[in-house]
Amino acid sequence: MEALSLVVSRLQQCQRVVVFTGAGVSAESAIPTFRDALTGLWSRFDPARLASPEGFLSDPDLVWGWYEWRRRKALLAEPNPAHLAIARLLPLVPELTLITQNVDNLHERAGNQHLLRLHGSLHQPRCFNCATPYPLPEGIPDEPEGGRRLTPPRCARCSGPIRPGVVWFGESLPETIWQQAEQATNQCDLLFSIGTSSLVWPAAQLPFQAKQHGATVVQINPNGTSLDPVADFNLHGPAGFILPQIVNALAEEPLQR
Ligand code: OAD
Repeated sequence: MEALSLVVSRLQQCQRVVVFTGAGVSAESAIPTFRDALTGLWSRFDPARLASPEGFLSDPDLVWGWYEWRRRKALLAEPNPAHLAIARLLPLVPELTLITQNVDNLHERAGNQHLLRLHGSLHQPRCFNCATPYPLPEGIPDEPEGGRRLTPPRCARCSGPIRPGVVWFGESLPETIWQQAEQATNQCDLLFSIGTSSLVWPAAQLPFQAKQHGATVVQINPNGTSLDPVADFNLHGPAGFILPQIVNALAEEPLQR
């Protein structure tokens, strides 16, 4: 039986499924990943300047402008067949936890309202000093080019600079969300690791942790990663091509529970 059918038959027997996603799941929506050699953001931009508290403090206008450019890209993008397939999977399994490292809102817009965001959101900025949430104006920001400087707005409460609501290098993951992600991972029967390079820890440990706790691990990625030797199934290809096939097959097959 080919790998895809085997994954579908495992899914039919599962109670608890975790879907863990990274930037690759939004690649087919034209949102750049971080580490793909030619197109990844970190091949063109310096993470130390753009994704660290020190970088923000030394040049807030550069950092705020860059994230507004990314927020604009995310708002102009549409969910792709991978996001839509994950949303269609939800009613087909008894329990599904979606955990994402992505900071766009394409999973929500595809129909997954409940998800655990490990790295925050482009759409939930807050004060750098007092963490008061900042309400973004409606609509799509007017920011045509990456690298354009924009002065961050000030906090209404303490006048501190507003920062993007994402987790930067050197910062901790949101504690409760991380605990929930670990709990779902440790208890699941099957975990999908989709579109992530498996390089950024602690998020990257989740598929390995699922395997240690006895889950079936299914990786979907056109390229190899450090998870390959551990995963039970490595489905090499774009998520927007592979995931709809899995979900279509699951929707057609009678349940075996
Ligand atoms: P990466 O850019 O590190 O990895 C993206 C992965 O997606 C790579 O393994 C690609 O091979 C794969 N990929 C590309 N196109 C794909 C497609 N169509 N379908 C499936 N997979 C595809 O992105 P992440 O692993 O998400 O942190 O990066 C982890 C974190 O590092 C990010 O959350 C970000 C970054 O610094 C923060 O923003 C805090």
